[in-house]
Amino acid sequence: MIEYVSTKGGGSPVNFETAVLNGLAPDGGLYVPTSLPKIDLAHLQLWKELNYTDLAFEIMSLFIDEAVISSQDLRTLINDSFTAFYHSEIIPFYHLASRKNIIIQELFHGPTLSFKDVAMGFVVNLFNYFLKRKGDKMSIMVATSGDTGPAAAFATIGKEALDTWTLYPEGFITEEQERQMTTITASNVHAVRITNCPNGSDDLDELITALFAKKNFKGKLNLSSVNSINWGRIMMQTVHYFYGYLHSVDAVGESLNFAVPSGAFGNLCAGSIAREMGLPVGKFILANNQNNCLQRIFADGIYRKDKVINCVSSAIDISLPINFWRYLYFAIGQKPQKIKEWMSEAEKNNRFTFDEATHQQFSKGFLTASISDELTLNTIREIYSKENYLLDPHAAVAVAATDQVKEELSNELKVLCLATAHPAKFPAIIKKSLGGLNIPLEASHPSLEEAKVYCQKVYECDYLNMHQSVPNTMLAYLIQSKN
Ligand SMILES: Cc1ncc(COP(=O)(O)O)c(C=O)c1O
Repeated sequence: MIEYVSTKGGGSPVNFETAVLNGLAPDGGLYVPTSLPKIDLAHLQLWKELNYTDLAFEIMSLFIDEAVISSQDLRTLINDSFTAFYHSEIIPFYHLASRKNIIIQELFHGPTLSFKDVAMGFVVNLFNYFLKRKGDKMSIMVATSGDTGPAAAFATIGKEALDTWTLYPEGFITEEQERQMTTITASNVHAVRITNCPNGSDDLDELITALFAKKNFKGKLNLSSVNSINWGRIMMQTVHYFYGYLHSVDAVGESLNFAVPSGAFGNLCAGSIAREMGLPVGKFILANNQNNCLQRIFADGIYRKDKVINCVSSAIDISLPINFWRYLYFAIGQKPQKIKEWMSEAEKNNRFTFDEATHQQFSKGFLTASISDELTLNTIREIYSKENYLLDPHAAVAVAATDQVKEELSNELKVLCLATAHPAKFPAIIKKSLGGLNIPLEASHPSLEEAKVYCQKVYECDYLNMHQSVPNTMLAYLIQSKN
């Protein structure tokens, strides 16, 4: 049986269903499988021609026992999770003409136009499947820096076993992202705007953590989360690394570099797990904006929680990279006691310095860069004027980071840059970067245009009273929905 344990070592091992439904382990740690499946090159070669959903099925089967989900049901759950994608290939690629060896992996063709759709549809489908089988219901809470919320809200439409509460910090996300949540009319989807957050979505993550710790409240609402603390999200995100690799290399066995715009480290944690499973990775290029918490961890071995800066790549305005701890668990050889000790110290002091040996160990294979807004805007403009291809601000951060570390990359190896959002989610930034140039068609999307002509349905409260207002509203809704 495949078992899951907490990165902090508390509690007993659980099966996949419990790990997904709990979201966070009871001791506050993150769920991880007790061991990772290994994939050799012969196996990778066999996967070379698979389409996205068939590859996802092969990889997911390595993490989920047949006794928990039958193969037939797993295949249906996966197929159903990708039907709303706008592109027939689900994840297409674009070879940059103005950069040698850079390929863009377009992860943004899902229903809410960001890479979050790639795993979110599946995880919400899993919740609904497990809950219906048990005859149970759950409330899901999600804090968003702009893209997780819309993906969770869309995926919840029509799921009778779930209510989803998406919390977003006013002023830290774009109007387009906001409307993706607030124009959904489904009665089980609730958007909550929090005003005056000093640190954006990090503040809301802290609220959710505090509410999860209130046993009575958590029990009444049967609360869980589909933020990237949920193992299901990370597990499904390993697939696009394998898929991107198989598409990009000339021959299986060759190494490939990956450039990843990073915030909470969920996406790169999935990449690191793929590497641990046997994917031939050259370097990971960890791309931060001016919120460079992760860059400092990898470059200097120092974790420090700073005030969040509002950047043009707003979805990575994050200074709490929660999934770094899940990565670290594997990087240091599965030592939960150490993770527990270090996490607690980091949370208590908002700062932690890793010893040199540990720093060397976990930073192996990583290059890092912190990209300014100016460089992000210039990169969008440069690529568009040279080859008529429009990057969103997050993909631009990845491309600019690749430029910055290119001396440290082998000339022969290709770089796959993960484009994590559609440029249409950031029209004001695109306009600013293109200056006097004509605004191209890709800077808009029909689904976002449609959202402009719907009323908004949203709860609102201030940061200062959110610890009372949000749970009160959720409890009142629960009582009312039971009557
Ligand atoms: C567009 C975009 N790019 C990158 C990221 C960063 O992903 P992660 O938080 O998994 O590092 C996010 C999510 O926060 C995002 O929405």
